Amino acid sequence: MASIDDLDIRPLWEGFGVEVLGVDLATADAATQDEVVEVFHRHGAMVIRDQSLTPEQQLTFTRRFGEPETNPGAQFTIPGLQEVYIISNKVVDGKVIGNWEAGQGWHTDASYRERPTMCTMLYALEVPPEGSDTLLSDLCAAYNALTEDEKAAYDGLQIQHSFRALREMQGRKSAYGEEDLDDVVHPMIRTHPADGRKALWVSTGTVKGVIGMPNPEGLDLIERLVAFATEPRFVHAHKWRVGDLLIWDNRCTLHRGTKFDLDKYVRHVHRTWVKGDRPV
Ligand code: SIN
Repeated sequence: MASIDDLDIRPLWEGFGVEVLGVDLATADAATQDEVVEVFHRHGAMVIRDQSLTPEQQLTFTRRFGEPETNPGAQFTIPGLQEVYIISNKVVDGKVIGNWEAGQGWHTDASYRERPTMCTMLYALEVPPEGSDTLLSDLCAAYNALTEDEKAAYDGLQIQHSFRALREMQGRKSAYGEEDLDDVVHPMIRTHPADGRKALWVSTGTVKGVIGMPNPEGLDLIERLVAFATEPRFVHAHKWRVGDLLIWDNRCTLHRGTKFDLDKYVRHVHRTWVKGDRPV
């Protein structure tokens, strides 16, 4: 059984993210798992290599971070485990068994909820040899790169997040009634509860505007800030290996999936989410 002494933790990218080696999460003791969680809160993202996890084991590890979110619909979840979502283009008995196009635009998960998702975990069972990187933008680095005047101007601004706005833009309805969720208002500059670091917490898709600023001015500002926060200097590409468990912190990152050749390759990933706190 792995213990804390076996943990090998290295920087993943300059100033952002860590890589964890030397741990088998399926058998690691509680202290080791909790140490991994503790490290995660300070680094924005983490990849734990060489895992071999059943959906139940992934869910058990997810619980070390907090309460798992259930997915609103049972389609594309593991039977009996609505917390484990299947991102896949794999075909079984003539049917695609997952949602292969999840998360293609820059976003932070469930920002339209009062308590947005704290972290997202993707576990890779099959990955293409090229394409399908997951991109992560470091919103603390983006905040730190603002001028002092910009920081002062954006501190105190609030963004209206709305699931309905996304569906109106897409011109389609959700099968799960999320349109009925009331819009929520969250700060544009978000403070991380672990150590007080600040993030430029903007997003796309489910944002409707800036409180007290008429549109298009409000949406234009958000668009400009997302373009800034996703400049190449703040973005890191995770290149997948089978057995990777990638975890990102939605309190201080934006993410997006990228395309791959669907006719040539299979990408098969299990996703879990952890419920978060109200942003401050
Ligand atoms: C997601 O946004 O949930 C998925 C991203 C990916 O599959 O790379």
